[in-house]
Amino acid sequence: MYRVMKRRQLAAAPSIILLEVEAPAVAKKVEPGQFVIVRMDEKSERIPLTVTDFNREKGTITIVIQDVGYSSAMINEMQEGSYFQDFVGPLGVPSEIENYGTVVCIGGGLGVAPVYPIARALKEAGNKVISVIGAKNADILILEEEMSAISDEVVVTTDDGSKGVKGFVTNGLDSILQKGIKVDAVWAIGPVVMMKSVANFTRPLGLKTIVSMNPIMVDGTGMCGACRISVGGETKFACVDGPEFDGHLVDFDLAMKRLAFYRDEEERAKIGKNC
Ligand code: FES
Repeated sequence: MYRVMKRRQLAAAPSIILLEVEAPAVAKKVEPGQFVIVRMDEKSERIPLTVTDFNREKGTITIVIQDVGYSSAMINEMQEGSYFQDFVGPLGVPSEIENYGTVVCIGGGLGVAPVYPIARALKEAGNKVISVIGAKNADILILEEEMSAISDEVVVTTDDGSKGVKGFVTNGLDSILQKGIKVDAVWAIGPVVMMKSVANFTRPLGLKTIVSMNPIMVDGTGMCGACRISVGGETKFACVDGPEFDGHLVDFDLAMKRLAFYRDEEERAKIGKNC
């Protein structure tokens, strides 16, 4: 059993929370870019979550979750002292951290959480790190302080203009390039449609772009095929081949279609819970 050591509501919206969970075996080995699959109890679905932070000495893993469905709503209600039944990881291939030069780390919505440890590791590797963090509005913008602490510069974007640049994260990236800054690589993590927009923006510029895919997962070990995506015309399993891929090669439209497969069941489960 894996105990919740700390719970913190992120942003003004109560639907997004940070949990620091006691999982020493995972904390010992995890690297930026990897993920865990959690299950609250035996009846819950398995949820893949890219790690937000880790503390090897304390033996803890930090995850961020938003109440978007039946199981995530249950996790959202967990308090300090609650337990996860399963907390499996670290899974996936770690981010390729090296000194690229200047890197832009983009996090959209909840995607700011997984991009945080990658940006920090890139900074520690000697890169100049410019971060672009975006949200629909200021109330659901997360981890601004944490991102500022490990970045050389942070550009905030909100769809409604309630904070920072009005527009999308691509507008934030564009504002950096407009200043004449030579960017050597981009990491973009967030909703699939956002990662698609970033990849479409950087492709004609020949700008290396890494995205982190978060498809439906079941076993997380490459056996079930649930997480398959198409990359450069080849089938890849996000759980063992990723979750990070070359954004210019990912078939985002197919990924979005597959993510929508169980939307009706999810709605029914949520309604059932509320009855
Ligand atoms: Fe089963 Fe990836 S989750 S193959």
